Amino acid sequence: MKKHDVIIVGGGLAGLRAAWKVSEVADTAVVSKLHPLRSHTGAAQGGIAASLGNETPDSWEEHMFDTVKGSDYLGDQNAIETLVKEAPKTIYDLEHLGVAFSRTEEGKIAQRPFGGHQKPRSCYAADWTGHTLLHTVYEQCIPKTIAFYDEWFALSLAVRDGVCRGIVALDIRTGEVEAFHSKAVILATGGYGRAFKITSNALANTGDGLGMALRAGLPLEDMEFVQFHPTGLYRQGILLTEGARGEGGYLVNGDGDRFMRNYAPEKMELAPRDVISRAEQTEIDQGRGGEGKDFVYLDLRHLGEAKINEKLPQLRDLARSFVGVDPVKDLVPIQPTAHYSMGGIPTTVTGQVISDEKNAPVTGLFAAGECACISVHGANRLGTNSLLDAALFGHKAAVATIEYLNEADFHPFPEEVMIEGVTRVKWVREANGRESAPKLRHELQETMTQKCGVFRDREKLEECLAKVKELQKRFDDIGIGDRSKSFNTEVTEALETQNMLDFSEIIVYGAMQREECRGAHWRVDHPGRDDENWLKHTIAFQKEDGIELRYKDVVITRYPPKERGY
Ligand code: FUM
Repeated sequence: MKKHDVIIVGGGLAGLRAAWKVSEVADTAVVSKLHPLRSHTGAAQGGIAASLGNETPDSWEEHMFDTVKGSDYLGDQNAIETLVKEAPKTIYDLEHLGVAFSRTEEGKIAQRPFGGHQKPRSCYAADWTGHTLLHTVYEQCIPKTIAFYDEWFALSLAVRDGVCRGIVALDIRTGEVEAFHSKAVILATGGYGRAFKITSNALANTGDGLGMALRAGLPLEDMEFVQFHPTGLYRQGILLTEGARGEGGYLVNGDGDRFMRNYAPEKMELAPRDVISRAEQTEIDQGRGGEGKDFVYLDLRHLGEAKINEKLPQLRDLARSFVGVDPVKDLVPIQPTAHYSMGGIPTTVTGQVISDEKNAPVTGLFAAGECACISVHGANRLGTNSLLDAALFGHKAAVATIEYLNEADFHPFPEEVMIEGVTRVKWVREANGRESAPKLRHELQETMTQKCGVFRDREKLEECLAKVKELQKRFDDIGIGDRSKSFNTEVTEALETQNMLDFSEIIVYGAMQREECRGAHWRVDHPGRDDENWLKHTIAFQKEDGIELRYKDVVITRYPPKERGY
């Protein structure tokens, strides 16, 4: 058995920020199924938000209002206030760690416009912002005394009597399962966009932390809210940064029309993502797409080669490499892509995981970043607020953990969680049924994209739920061809698929019950936002006989809900 004061699961921005801080005072380990530098944070492109006011006067109040409105009034305003008030300090802390932000002529941190933000407040490093942040924070973790367990697949949380005592994980290199005994655990396992076929998410984004939470009997919050980013590269889903529109890019349909004038006449291409993704999907569905009609275009040609090379070098490279078009002279085919999970493991503003709709804490368990739901993004996240969320709440979860360590001790490790982990891996490795886990995963992605996408209705959601349940049943009959222990990716992919099937059921079930349109959740059969019945968070539990939904009030402090137009 391995033993550390604190185990952090996940090596992206939230996990590393937490590790950097906690390791000042405690024996800290980072457990990740990847090398940390391969974490999905590296794919974030366009920036990280803060009201620095370096380009135009700005304030935290304006940032807060934009975020609340962007969330379609589902974000908890106490949490949002913390996010926006502490954003400038977070940026300066990152700068002092060595993050090389792009600069204005006078040498200040440059800031570009982003969708749904009234002011240019996205601090960026060309279109390599996530990459730059990840590398810098990782580099700063190296001189600290942190034990890195790279390529360990976390299986279960050891929670007994409301106290977290560590985790169980599979060493991908040896195929052995081990217990990690700790005083505290911070989950920072990222998002779950891979449940969809068209997604900007890395292969690794399979929601493993959510699966762990569910297996430990913990609920998930607001899972029905999945963000579709408007500029996914056609068919690939790969992110083309919203920064491109922040720099002045247009969206045009197959007729060359800047169609956003019909959907968000004031904000045009800088409306929030939910609004633009629906506009694109409408253009496509009504036959105004390009060529085969199933995409629209991003037009950057008027920006010129010098600006594209300086501000959007990665975007140019991606478009050339993956679809063979050069944004300097060509239109770039795009479509909405599953990008971000607003829902996740419910936490307080300090990152403490809670176990029900009454906010009962799970002692010794914290979560931060995309796997967590605080909730600062509500029904729709504004671009650049997620890197901020990861950096800021990763740090806050660390501070709360340090405080907890003052009185915490090692509680006995529950042997049965270890036995469950060993049994689960053995079952998968030795499975000799007729079904193929990759095929089940593929069918899941197909059905989630088709039936639980930008536009939803009861009929499609019911079909989707039936399909997810069918896939769950078929999973019991999987067969594995490779019985070896070392780097058996067939086994780890099957374990991921099981996680995906579990949380997908909650996404779809929550979406079926929520009979309204709010943010990224758009029910064509229930037009309009319904504050009277649905201004509340969904708290979903996985029970023996199916999903149980409970609900929790939204925290409203400064901005009462009103109509949301752009
Ligand atoms: O478009 C982007 O660069 C993505 C940013 C984000 O999701 O915050």
